Amino acid sequence: MASCFRTTKSNDKLVLEFLLLLLVLGSCSTLSFAGNFNRDFDITWGDGRAKVLNNGKLLTLALDKASGSGIQSKNEYLFGKIELQLKLVPGNSAGTVTAYYLSSQGPTHDEIDFEFLGNLSGDPYLVHTNVYTQGKGDREQQFYLWFDPTADFHTYSILWNPQTIIFYVDGMPIRVFKNLESRGIPFPKNQAMRVYSSLWNADDWATRGGLVKTDWSQAPFTISLRNFRANACVWKSAQSSCSAGNSSSTKPWLSEELDSASASRLKWVQENYMVYNYCADAKRYPQGLPPECTVSTTNDKNKKTSNQ
Ligand SMILES: *[C@@H]1O[C@H](CO)[C@@H](O)[C@H](O)[C@H]1NC(C)=O
Ligand SMILES: *[C@@H]1O[C@H](CO)[C@@H](O)[C@H](O)[C@H]1NC(C)=O
Repeated sequence: MASCFRTTKSNDKLVLEFLLLLLVLGSCSTLSFAGNFNRDFDITWGDGRAKVLNNGKLLTLALDKASGSGIQSKNEYLFGKIELQLKLVPGNSAGTVTAYYLSSQGPTHDEIDFEFLGNLSGDPYLVHTNVYTQGKGDREQQFYLWFDPTADFHTYSILWNPQTIIFYVDGMPIRVFKNLESRGIPFPKNQAMRVYSSLWNADDWATRGGLVKTDWSQAPFTISLRNFRANACVWKSAQSSCSAGNSSSTKPWLSEELDSASASRLKWVQENYMVYNYCADAKRYPQGLPPECTVSTTNDKNKKTSNQ
C-alpha cells in the first residue's frame, strides 16, 4: 500500500497536520441528498456499458476492448458548484482514463476538466486537470492523491462562478483559476456547460506517457458514480435560473472565493502532491510563461504555520 501514497515530505508533522485537516473537514461536511441519474443524466454512448442502478442512485460505466461509455447532464449550467462521488477502476487500471468535466460546445468552447489516469496495481493514479477558455487549453496541472481512489467513493467538485474556478477533492482545494479578465485573460462566463463523465481507453498516452498499455485480460473495467449534486444556475431558453433573486445568501457558491484557510490547504496540496504545473514549465515556454502564471492565485501572507 505504501507505494500508493507518495509525499515529497513524509514526516510526522505532515501526518499530524493532515489529521487536523480531516477533523476540520469532517465537521464541516453537510448532509447531501442523493442525486438521481435517471433524472439528471442521459447515457450518450457505450451501447449498454453505462448502467443506472438502485433507482437512479448509482451509475456504473464500463470499458472493454470494443468500447468505453459515457454520460452527459440533461441540464446546461452557467455557474455553480458541481459535485460527484467517484470510485475508480481498481487493480491494474493502466491505460484507462476516467473523465469528469464541464464543457460548452463549438470551436471556441470553454471546458473545466478532471481526468483520472489509471496505473499498474500499486502505482498511483494521476489526476490531470485543465481549463479551456474560448477554445484554448494547454493549462495542465497534475496531482497524486493522498488516498487510494479505488478503495472507496470520494467527492470531486468544481466551483465555477464569475470570480473564480476552484477544483476540490474531498473538500480540499487543489487548483484555482481566477478571473483575470482585467489583465486580458479570457474567463469562462458566457457559455453554458454540461457535465460529462466517461471511461475510455487512452493507452496511447495515459500511463507513463503511453509506455504502459491496457491489459485487456482484466476487462471489463468499471467505475461507479453516486451523489451528483449541482448547486447551480440552470441555463434554459437563453435564461439563467439565477437571474431572479440570486442573492449570495441563498447561493453562497456564486460569490465563494478562496479564503485564507482554504489557501493554506491549497498550498499544502500543491507542495506535497502536485506532479506537473504548466506554470512551472519554463522549458515549454521559451518566450515566457502564459500571462495567468505570473499572477499569484494564493494569498502569500498565509504562512504554513497558520494551518495549526
Ligand atoms: C504511474 O506510476 C508511475 C510510477 O510510479 C508514475 O511515474 C506515473 O506518474 C503514474 N501515473 C501515470 C498516469 O503514469
Ligand atoms: C444575478 O442577478 C443580477 C441582477 O438581477 C444579474 O445582473 C446577474 O447577472 C445575476 N448573476 C447570475 C450569475 O446570474
